[in-house]
Amino acid sequence: MKTTISLSAPADVETESLVAVVLDQATSTSGDTNKKPELKIAATDPALQSAAADLLASGEVAGKPFETNLLHKPGGLKGKRLLLISGGSARSFSAYDLRRIAGAAVRTLKSRGIRSFAFVAPAGIGAAEAVRAIVEGAHVGNFDPDYYRSDRKDQKIDAVTVITSGDKGALEKAATEAQVIGASQNFTRDLVNEPSNRMTPTILAERAKQMCAEVGLKCEVYGADKIKEMKMGAFWSVAQGSDEPPALIVMTYEPAGAPPKPVLGLVGKGITFDTGGISIKPADGMEKMKYDMAGGATMIGAMRAIALLKPKVKVIGIVCATENMPSGKAQKPGDVQIAMSGKSIEIINTDAEGRLVLADGLYYARQLGCTHLVDAATLTGAVVVALGYANAGVFANDDDMYTRFHSANAKAGEKMWRMPLDDEYKEQIRSSIADIMNTGGRWGGAITAAMFLKEFAEDTPWIHLDIAGTAWTEEQKPWIAKGPSGIALRSLVEFVKSFAA
Ligand code: BES
Ligand code: MN
Ligand code: ZN
Repeated sequence: MKTTISLSAPADVETESLVAVVLDQATSTSGDTNKKPELKIAATDPALQSAAADLLASGEVAGKPFETNLLHKPGGLKGKRLLLISGGSARSFSAYDLRRIAGAAVRTLKSRGIRSFAFVAPAGIGAAEAVRAIVEGAHVGNFDPDYYRSDRKDQKIDAVTVITSGDKGALEKAATEAQVIGASQNFTRDLVNEPSNRMTPTILAERAKQMCAEVGLKCEVYGADKIKEMKMGAFWSVAQGSDEPPALIVMTYEPAGAPPKPVLGLVGKGITFDTGGISIKPADGMEKMKYDMAGGATMIGAMRAIALLKPKVKVIGIVCATENMPSGKAQKPGDVQIAMSGKSIEIINTDAEGRLVLADGLYYARQLGCTHLVDAATLTGAVVVALGYANAGVFANDDDMYTRFHSANAKAGEKMWRMPLDDEYKEQIRSSIADIMNTGGRWGGAITAAMFLKEFAEDTPWIHLDIAGTAWTEEQKPWIAKGPSGIALRSLVEFVKSFAA
């Protein structure tokens, strides 16, 4: 999506459609449901205000979030249309809401065949922050997953202009960065969206290589032989059951002028299909396990954004890609595997495979010299029980690392919630015959999975993101289609930028 900044008055902008946010200015506090909303466009421009005045005064607009009203040939404006989109109460309206409003505007306009629009940045949010939210949110809204439908309309917005005021150069930089991040998020969503017959580990590695070649990243892909040779016994134990060859994808970003340290390691779970293995999953809902490579796809998309944004910090992206299949070669409950780190693992449930591939991925990242680690994985159903679909789970073995991540996460406008990692939970993964078991029983399943990973991050500052409940949007929302969400990419990119020299 082409993005431009305009410092013109909204009335003077020629566009297929202007978009303006309507906010309720009423100051009453909660409870007073009979109080009439005081709806106003969140911009001071008098021509814009007067174009919308009659409609807003008519009482026909309730002002509920995401409510849309489209005016044709709005009086006094050069735009062909004016889309009014409600954002709820002015008092609480934030950049987080603006992102979603921009996504909803895109979805409203593109379904009508409109290809470009100009969004009037609302007053009350810093100009650069608003530009970023509008451009990123517009990208999120522009994605539709129905690639294999013969009647796919493939309506897309091609160009967005943000109408705002301030230092044009700085705002254009914000817009370009947001465009890179939004496009990278959609790149990740494209990978996640593919079914497993069209997104095998080999294909995922090919897509990573192609992307790396385009943006100038080094990319190495290792197969079964190298995985075994490196003694990645945990990763291989999952891969051994499948006829599809596994792939260890290593993407390296080493910008000129970056200090030797820190080196950030981004490690992703890349299970292109998770049947559960011998501990096979029930048929009902198993088709969803095509998105079990979302963590890996997030890292590939994040590396794309990083390569284009060029922060001065070293980053290594690692994706452990394999299927998890039952077969005559598959590992069995009770098997003992030796991870790359030398730790022995008793396999209790072959469906707890994500932690196995990540154990070797995290250890390998440290071997490559990573001083800070982040992993992303659709790791547990238990995180969905704990946090539902709204928040991803964040785990950290280091408070400074968490604080840094949390502020990146807030800037990126993604919802995540910290979960505990106390030593008490380690009891649950103690094995009587090996160093550790790969499951920890019924209670606190997201935490015991994270405790397992912690054994392989050891003392390296590390963040674990469990995105099982958030990587796939279960039902469509005004601002986003049903399907892959691209969660965590924006936070990761912001986090990496925070280390830049
Ligand atoms: N890929 C699943 C987790 C998952 C569940 C992702 C729902 C997305 C949506 C993971 O590999 C898994 O199977 N976890 C098991 C662990 C259990 C066997 C300890 C689970 O959560 O049931
Ligand atoms: Mn599983
Ligand atoms: Zn899985």
